[in-house]
Amino acid sequence: MTRSGAANAPWWRDAVIYQIYVRSFADSDGDGVGDVPGVRSRLPYVRELGVDAIWLNPFYPSPQVDAGYDVTDYRGVDPILGSVDDVDELVRDAHALGLRVLIDLVPNHTSSEHAWFRAALAAPPDSPERARYIFRSGRGPGGDTPPNDWVSNFGGRAWTRVTEPDGTPGQWYLHLFAPEQPDLNWTNDEVWAEFESILRFWFDRGIDGFRIDVAHGLAKDPEMPDLAGDYAVSGPAIEGHPHWDRDEVHDVYRGWRRISDSYPGDRLFVAEVWVQDPERLALYLRPDELHTAFNFGLLLAPWGADAMRTAIDRSIAALARVGAPPTWVLSNHDVVRHVTRYGGGELGTRRARAAALLLLALPGGAYVYQGEELGLPEVTELPDAVRRDPAFLRTRGAEPGRDGCRVPMPWSGLRPPFGFGPSDESWLPQPQEWAGLTVERQASDAASMLTLYRDALLLRRKLPALGDGQLAGLEAGHDLLAFRRDPGFVCLVNLGDAPAQVPQGLLPEGAVAVLASAPIDRGGQVPGATAVWYVWGEGDRGDSNPRPSGPQPDALTN
Ligand code: BGC
Ligand code: MG
Repeated sequence: MTRSGAANAPWWRDAVIYQIYVRSFADSDGDGVGDVPGVRSRLPYVRELGVDAIWLNPFYPSPQVDAGYDVTDYRGVDPILGSVDDVDELVRDAHALGLRVLIDLVPNHTSSEHAWFRAALAAPPDSPERARYIFRSGRGPGGDTPPNDWVSNFGGRAWTRVTEPDGTPGQWYLHLFAPEQPDLNWTNDEVWAEFESILRFWFDRGIDGFRIDVAHGLAKDPEMPDLAGDYAVSGPAIEGHPHWDRDEVHDVYRGWRRISDSYPGDRLFVAEVWVQDPERLALYLRPDELHTAFNFGLLLAPWGADAMRTAIDRSIAALARVGAPPTWVLSNHDVVRHVTRYGGGELGTRRARAAALLLLALPGGAYVYQGEELGLPEVTELPDAVRRDPAFLRTRGAEPGRDGCRVPMPWSGLRPPFGFGPSDESWLPQPQEWAGLTVERQASDAASMLTLYRDALLLRRKLPALGDGQLAGLEAGHDLLAFRRDPGFVCLVNLGDAPAQVPQGLLPEGAVAVLASAPIDRGGQVPGATAVWYVWGEGDRGDSNPRPSGPQPDALTN
């Protein structure tokens, strides 16, 4: 459903997509690990939240070195998480509820346990088996030094040396992530053919689209030059980088787009691309390439009107040039949860409430990471012994890693695991304080984060201005961010700590506040760290008597 733009515009131009981290969503069998049947059992909750689609993190068979981003079989499901039949049933139920389903595709690397990699280890240098990966001889006497100085995203070097089948020290293979995640060679025809076949396998089963993992990493400079300090960071891409965001990756996506276009029903690709420049992001979204990409600008922006306005304006301008809708993200399974990024505690929660209204009022699509609708904070107190993230393990704890944003969902009850599953187990422990944040607790609380998300998502469906379309930035002054969307809608966010006057002339006569992230009063002031949605005239096609979140904006509307 699109609320603006052409009546037959594809669904994804303004979809809100709910990210489900399968192993932490709901456990059906009591082993303490969330699974596909667990997700299926909770689909009514997702539907009621009011989103359009779900994206599932990888569920494929995997040694789970990197929580499933190390895949051994791209056409299967890990027995810990369920079966292909379970996925089929999940897709069927989701569709019956009007929810689309995206799954995660990991094309940059396989697991080192993948049949292809095992075959590569068993085969000699220069064999077709090795050619599917990136094997090189080492430098220096005896080839003891890695082929170049590239570094792994998880710490340490990006090369591991193998022992040849005859027992001698052998070649090195590239892994931009863990050693158990060897990089595929995307100049190899077999690799291309295999992934095209994998896409068809899942499209044929009714999947609505794919999230493409590390989409900016597939192409490597064939010369394999040293970084030599020129690109000291292994993080977001810099132009000319030997392995991030190289122009050759675009050929892959042109091929994939031809496949998705051959299926009925607006199938979708969303690319995970970490680049600093929104202009580079836009290249992935040219009309014959991918449909959308995560736009991490807002996620990376610190709390503050200037930084956030700049991130928003730059993204919109760059993507408009290729005709692609922006998407907006505040959190995911790789970053510190935004309640915590924004300061934690009451302040962090208050800011996260305001950010939610900003997120859902911006043009285009939005991603909601499971648990952000509950206001879950990052769990910073996990004991080292339970941490699983290779980013933690490979840096011996120098990096805290990403386990703290992956703690299982609290559904109900007063003690861990809070209804996560039928047993007392959960693969990461939940804090006892989450008793106050369960779905059960929040569902009946008019002032809860969950109620705010539900109200905002409901209004987003009703108000004609929201979703796909344009925005007009409004001068609102220091600490205030304001924009208008047509017809008849303004979002005003006070990013300061102190209350601010609603600027003169910002709102036309008759504008009413339909939703606010914190109580507001009649005095024409917006409290600190608060966002408000106003509508008037044609824009007021929402519920004439909205159920505001918390004890609030009715003072203005009365
Ligand atoms: C995923 C991570 C994963 C990495 C390697 C990503 O960017 O989101 O969770 O560790 O790719 O596959
Ligand atoms: Mg389970």
